[in-house]
Amino acid sequence: MASSSRGQFSSRIGFIMAAAGSAVGLGNVWGFPTQTASNGGAAFLVMYLLMMVLLAFPMLVAELTIGRYGQSNPIASLKKIWVRNQALAIVFGSIAMLAASLILSFYAILAGWLIGFGAAPVMELVGLKGFAEWLETYGVARNLVLTVLFMGLTVYVVQKGVANGIEKWSTRLMPLLFVLFAVLIGYIFTQEGAIEGLEMYLIPDWSHVNAGLVVNAMGQAFFSLSLGVGAMMVYGSYLKKDINIVRTAGQVAVIDTGVALSAGLLILPAMFVAKHNGVQIFNEVGELISSGNLVFTVLPSLFDTMGPIGEVIGLAFFALMVIAALTSSIAMLEVPVACLHEELNIRREKAAKILGLAILILSVIIVVNFSSLFDLVATISTMYMQPLLGVVWAIVIGWIWHRNKQLEEIKQGNPDIEQGWFWKIWPWYVKFVCPIAVLTVFLYPQL
Ligand code: PFF
Repeated sequence: MASSSRGQFSSRIGFIMAAAGSAVGLGNVWGFPTQTASNGGAAFLVMYLLMMVLLAFPMLVAELTIGRYGQSNPIASLKKIWVRNQALAIVFGSIAMLAASLILSFYAILAGWLIGFGAAPVMELVGLKGFAEWLETYGVARNLVLTVLFMGLTVYVVQKGVANGIEKWSTRLMPLLFVLFAVLIGYIFTQEGAIEGLEMYLIPDWSHVNAGLVVNAMGQAFFSLSLGVGAMMVYGSYLKKDINIVRTAGQVAVIDTGVALSAGLLILPAMFVAKHNGVQIFNEVGELISSGNLVFTVLPSLFDTMGPIGEVIGLAFFALMVIAALTSSIAMLEVPVACLHEELNIRREKAAKILGLAILILSVIIVVNFSSLFDLVATISTMYMQPLLGVVWAIVIGWIWHRNKQLEEIKQGNPDIEQGWFWKIWPWYVKFVCPIAVLTVFLYPQL
């Protein structure tokens, strides 16, 4: 397929919003605060920031560069670099596609819950108390209905293509998300107890630092920047050649980290405000109760204690979460859709529907076998597949792709890059440090 007939982000800001939209998601607003709250507060925060700067950011530049060079889906882009080993390009491109689909299959379930928690206060306001309760109570039927709804939204946006779907919706939704966040943070700090949460967030408890915490921080950073699964490769392939990849990647990473830090600034104080209002959040030995459910248990009970304004705040908060989840899920679905559309010449609309349905079937299987499958799929796809695929991309860049070709690609949109510090460090850094560091962090706890 000729590159001219492919979609393209129409502006740099549109790309930043879309890529930041992909990056900012449940990983930031749910995963990061939950991990921080259960891993010693600031100690996790520091480790996470280190992982972002030292590993995730250089890998983001790598994925965007491979994608823009390839001007195609991950399979085709890898083939263009792996000229002598096309089979490997197909194998790893397909594994990335599978990883993106697996992530979407569990992500859609979580996002469905968020729709439920967002809609419940509205239903209560219009007098549908029973329905509101159903929306907030764990159950297979509820999970199925809400997952279908969220997947439908995702397919709807992806069908529309790059500029009319992904870019348009990300550019509309992301600023809304920033505003809602700012309002909620402003509100929470007017409440009693918030400062206690702030202390936990900012004063490190180093006793929590161990190999497991480092692995979690790395996994969280990779997940947060949507690395490994080819999402950033696909987005990079829609990026115009005159755009400075390094600077743009930096901006995306800063926005992503900014939102994660803000989410911490909202949720940790909110936990303590809830505690102050009589909600039990810690058990007798001081551990967080059901940390995985933090957002779904602590926050609604917090909103309940606020009276009628709490209903509005609850709606705003969960609307914000759904927005964040949607701009991420469209990036996940875009990976297999681009592959099917371009490799097998299937129309985009059709590819989006077929793949949306296939992934929905996976989600249904998970919903029905929730206790045995949910954590398993999430762990395999995010803790194993994402970092290990990241190692493969680092090897492709460092050992397969000729350095002059990389330079040629990166130089477009950044003509002076050779003179700067980035080009002196990055090529060998990605070649040696990234794969070794990721593998070490990954293998160390197993030894
Ligand atoms: N970065 C997203 C988040 O933090 O929620 C998750 C994600 C999006 C992972 C897109 C992978 C992906 F391809």
